[in-house]
Amino acid sequence: MQIFSAEVVLLVLTLSLPVEAKKCPRACSCDSTTLTTACVGKNLTDVPPTVEEITVKLDLRNNNLQVLSRGAFMHTPYLTYLNLQRCNIIEIKEGAFRTLGRVVSLNLAHNKIEILYQESFDGLSSLKELRLDHNRIEEIQPGAFTQLGFLNTLALTHNQLVYIPNMVFQGLQNIKFLRLSHNSLNNLAPEAFAGLFTLSRLDLDHNELQFFPTQTMTRLREVTRLHMNHNPMVYLGEDSVSMAKLTHLYLSHMSLQDLSDKAFSQAPLLSHLDLSHNHLRYLEPLSGPRELTSLNLTGNPIYCNCYMSPLRQWARVSGVKLLGACSGPPHLSDEPLQAVSPQDLRCRRGKSPVEDDEEEESTERVPPTVTATAKPKQKVKCPANCECDTETQHATCEGRGHTRIPRGFPAKTQLLDLHDNHFHYLPANSFPGSSQLVSLHLQSCKIHEIEGGALQGMKNLLYLYLSDNDLVSLDPKAFAGAPKLTYLHLERNKLAQFPGSALSLLPSLIVLHLEQNAISKLETSGLLSSLGSKLTELYLSNNNLTYIAKGALDSDSLSTLHLDSNQLTEVPTHALVETPNLQELNLSGNSVHWVGPNAFQPLSKSLKRLYMDHMGMEKISKDALLGLGSELRTLTVRGNQLEEFPDLSSLTGLETVDLQDNPLRCDCFLLPLRRWMENVSLELTATCGHPPELRGQKVQGIHVFKSCPENIFPQEKKSAADPKVKKSKADSLKSRKIKAQTTAKVAKLPRKQPQRKPGPPKVTKKKKILK
Ligand SMILES: *[C@@H]1O[C@H](CO)[C@@H](O)[C@H](O)[C@H]1NC(C)=O
Ligand SMILES: *[C@@H]1O[C@H](CO)[C@@H](O)[C@H](O)[C@H]1NC(C)=O
Ligand SMILES: *[C@@H]1O[C@H](CO)[C@@H](O)[C@H](O)[C@H]1NC(C)=O
Ligand SMILES: *[C@@H]1O[C@H](CO)[C@@H](O)[C@H](O)[C@H]1NC(C)=O
Ligand SMILES: *[C@@H]1O[C@H](CO)[C@@H](O)[C@H](O)[C@H]1NC(C)=O
Repeated sequence: MQIFSAEVVLLVLTLSLPVEAKKCPRACSCDSTTLTTACVGKNLTDVPPTVEEITVKLDLRNNNLQVLSRGAFMHTPYLTYLNLQRCNIIEIKEGAFRTLGRVVSLNLAHNKIEILYQESFDGLSSLKELRLDHNRIEEIQPGAFTQLGFLNTLALTHNQLVYIPNMVFQGLQNIKFLRLSHNSLNNLAPEAFAGLFTLSRLDLDHNELQFFPTQTMTRLREVTRLHMNHNPMVYLGEDSVSMAKLTHLYLSHMSLQDLSDKAFSQAPLLSHLDLSHNHLRYLEPLSGPRELTSLNLTGNPIYCNCYMSPLRQWARVSGVKLLGACSGPPHLSDEPLQAVSPQDLRCRRGKSPVEDDEEEESTERVPPTVTATAKPKQKVKCPANCECDTETQHATCEGRGHTRIPRGFPAKTQLLDLHDNHFHYLPANSFPGSSQLVSLHLQSCKIHEIEGGALQGMKNLLYLYLSDNDLVSLDPKAFAGAPKLTYLHLERNKLAQFPGSALSLLPSLIVLHLEQNAISKLETSGLLSSLGSKLTELYLSNNNLTYIAKGALDSDSLSTLHLDSNQLTEVPTHALVETPNLQELNLSGNSVHWVGPNAFQPLSKSLKRLYMDHMGMEKISKDALLGLGSELRTLTVRGNQLEEFPDLSSLTGLETVDLQDNPLRCDCFLLPLRRWMENVSLELTATCGHPPELRGQKVQGIHVFKSCPENIFPQEKKSAADPKVKKSKADSLKSRKIKAQTTAKVAKLPRKQPQRKPGPPKVTKKKKILK
């Protein structure tokens, strides 16, 4: 009782008197009426420990905090507003906010955070608004938000997310608004948004989604507004949008060339649809949304002839306001869609609509195989036994038993799919008039030879698929005439040598697939440096490589190198001396029994992911990983014969370590590793192989280490006395809970890809043609 009244007196005093100077930290200004402490732009490296306990608003903008450690706000339990914008924060340790059960608004925007850990936001049980925009987040670990049951708004815009795994937003039981704009998202797992039953608005604009993520979106039962602008989608198929409550859908600035009239048939409440700034030339009346009031077609090249008439008619009858203007024909150009009457929308007699709108084109005359009946999406000019779609600019003759490359595709064709035919041989100039072609598919065509100049004139070709053929070698001029080629697939052929001279004609090559060929040696020094200076990914898995010459792999651009499943007997250190930017190296499935000291030294500045599984490795030098430091994120040595393993404590950036299926000898010599395992926050499985009585048991779970003589390991005493170490042990207990997150790693792709991947146009085309 006594104590209680003393506290009240103190509180009353503090509230009624101006805050004493000593109560307000030196770098800060304090306002006792609003209980605000502001320490803005003071280059502080720590949260001032003397901030008064009763502070409710704490403004720490523009400082230099870098790491928010556990319990960083322990002394200010009454905070409701916390602003940590632009504080140079790189990492939030688990438990940093654990004492802040009253905070309603937390601003962490404009920092440098890369990963959201499972318990980064633990304790923020009243939080309503969380801003994490303008960081560098590339990974969200499952469970990161489980404690935020009251959160309303979550801003994750302007980060580096590529993929959203299943269930990451689990626990956000009251979320209304989720903002994921301006990331690099190209993939959303089907259950990415599972559990968000209250979400009403979702922003996914400015990402790299190539398809509408139908399955994922269908889970969002309450969403009414969806922003998807600025994603590179080319087509929306039937039932793409299946969202029962959706009213506003924004799909502007995409690359839509076409959409099914039933694309929105499962969005019955849709009232506003924004399709502005796409590549639509026609649109059919949309079936499904009965409440539609506004359809925005601004900035599309709408061609106002008879094929737009049904849409115009439908808009008039159903009261849909059409926004946008005609792009042609000349007498209607720039005429607002809303102003043209159905009678104005005519086709010239005797001309098919496509001829009508493409009359300026001079194309070689080839008799159409399908007679042009009066449908807008009709194929007009197309070789026999093929299908051409002039709207999507796709042509396919896939699996039709062709033995020669057909001729006479529309000059504007961008994607040509010829896979599964029997060409055997590609003569020179096989593709006349294909200057617009971007993607050429020649997989599984039994091709054993490509004559020099076969691709002549393909000056826009970016993607070439030659996988699953019978190529034994390549003519040095095989790729002449396709200088922009960027992605080349040659996997599953019979190439016996690295086709260096053929590839040297491809200065723009970035990704090269040569898996499952019969290449046994990379002999020539300067093999890669003679190619263009852009090659970034090289896949040589499953060849017969036994030897790699020094200098063969020299390249400033190479970032991913897969040498797995070959016959290398040692780590090719000598060949990696001049690959300063190599980030990912896969050596799994070779027969490297011993890894010597400094094996990866040349890669010490760059290497992030190293795979050495199933190599029959019996020994690894304790200095094998010397030089590698905080850059290394992933290390796998699964399924080897290792009994010992070197100390990993210098690899402070490790996130994934896989030591499984090694017969580790569980005696005192393993103690440093075991200690390290206890010390770090990552999921790690290692089992004992020796001695027999411990076989199969987890290294973490056994007790033999207790009897190890301490004097063998001098650091033991130090760590027992060092409070820091104790603390991180507590951390490690916590981190054991992080289950399976290592498998939910985000696949990081180069942020800016020069061109979209080839997948979607192909699917687009299929959907269209099968329609
Ligand atoms: C901020 O502090 C860091 C070290 O704590 C120092 O290197 C830097 O120069 C300081 N910046 C300013 C603007 O004072
Ligand atoms: C239609 O789209 C254009 C271009 O994106 C935009 O400026 C305009 O505001 C939109 N109109 C409506 C009514 O949404
Ligand atoms: C790869 O090498 C092995 C032995 O060196 C040989 O038996 C096999 O035929 C080779 N494979 C190919 C595809 O050349
Ligand atoms: C590395 O190579 C192995 C063996 O070929 C393969 O199973 C694994 O998927 C590869 N890992 C990566 C990340 O490429
Ligand atoms: C455990 O972690 C602490 C602090 O990060 C470090 O100083 C110590 O060397 C580590 N101990 C081991 C055995 O890795």
